[in-house]
Amino acid sequence: MSRRSQVLRALIGAEGAAVCGEDLAAELGVTRVAVSKHMATLRELGYVIEATPHTGYHLVSSPELLLPDAVEALVRDPLWVRFEGGPSTVSTNDDAKRLARSGAPEGTVLVAGAQTGGRGRLGREWVSPSGGAYLSIILRPNMSPAQSSALPLVVALGVARGLESLGCHTLLKWPNDIWLGAGPGSTDALGKLSGVLLEMQSEIDRVEWIVAGIGVNVSFATGRTPGAAYVDDQVPGCAPAAVAAAVLDGIAECFGQFVSDGFGTLAEEYVSRSMLEGREVTVRELDGTVRASGRVQGVDADGRLLLDGGSGMLAVSTGDVTLRDAGA
Ligand code: BTN
Repeated sequence: MSRRSQVLRALIGAEGAAVCGEDLAAELGVTRVAVSKHMATLRELGYVIEATPHTGYHLVSSPELLLPDAVEALVRDPLWVRFEGGPSTVSTNDDAKRLARSGAPEGTVLVAGAQTGGRGRLGREWVSPSGGAYLSIILRPNMSPAQSSALPLVVALGVARGLESLGCHTLLKWPNDIWLGAGPGSTDALGKLSGVLLEMQSEIDRVEWIVAGIGVNVSFATGRTPGAAYVDDQVPGCAPAAVAAAVLDGIAECFGQFVSDGFGTLAEEYVSRSMLEGREVTVRELDGTVRASGRVQGVDADGRLLLDGGSGMLAVSTGDVTLRDAGA
């Protein structure tokens, strides 16, 4: 972790109380002048930090926009090793793919406070105004593309765990949409909260890199998008950096479990959080033609959606799902 992020972590950890500059310098093994330079840089980034003689520094407020330092200061899992990004970009997935191609390590994280060309699944646009959390991660699992087929579901489950840790009720919509649920145990879906876009480069039997892009609707201060739900709906005032850090920790947990034990144990949790389980659905191709329909009966070990189509079980690996009895 960079020294600046360590300074920020200390300020955030103090929860508004003063942090003594001399103690912090000793703890980090730097001079007091170095600490004061980090404070100056943080102020330039939009952090409001007050300094009181004989007492120390305290954090008054953080910038609204998602910045890499803030995420690095809040994230706990050691999988995440490098943090990049800025207030706005075209698409964090594009940035992450460039870094992956040039050899950036697993655990690299790209964040942005807004995107001008955010991309969603199936060639759709992902509207990305400021106030959301937009991030992409680089993963390099030592497995074949076939073995990694359940990864989109693993990432979605990680996002759901992260958002739950903040106090949101989440539901999963196959393969990797995260919806806001009405409450504990309820399958009433209030709107789409987050989406995941995975892109990959591989040889026939080896994954080279996977970029997973995650968009979370955090604040509706700049206006609501029809059909969307927001973290703000259930956890008012949650900062995009806190959302990004929670999501990253959730993903790291699920990814670690997937790499060591496969999708088996995670599949059960995925199904228990699914808003589609036991419901009648239609799965469509990109052009709208119906691929399959039936009653959802879980997912298999490869992450395929299992449907009871009346005359036997079908396993579907791609497509767009709609509930036959609702608008989701
Ligand atoms: C979907 O639900 O269709 C997936 C949406 C994925 C959006 C995220 S935002 C961060 C990353 N950058 C992009 O351009 N897309 C993903």
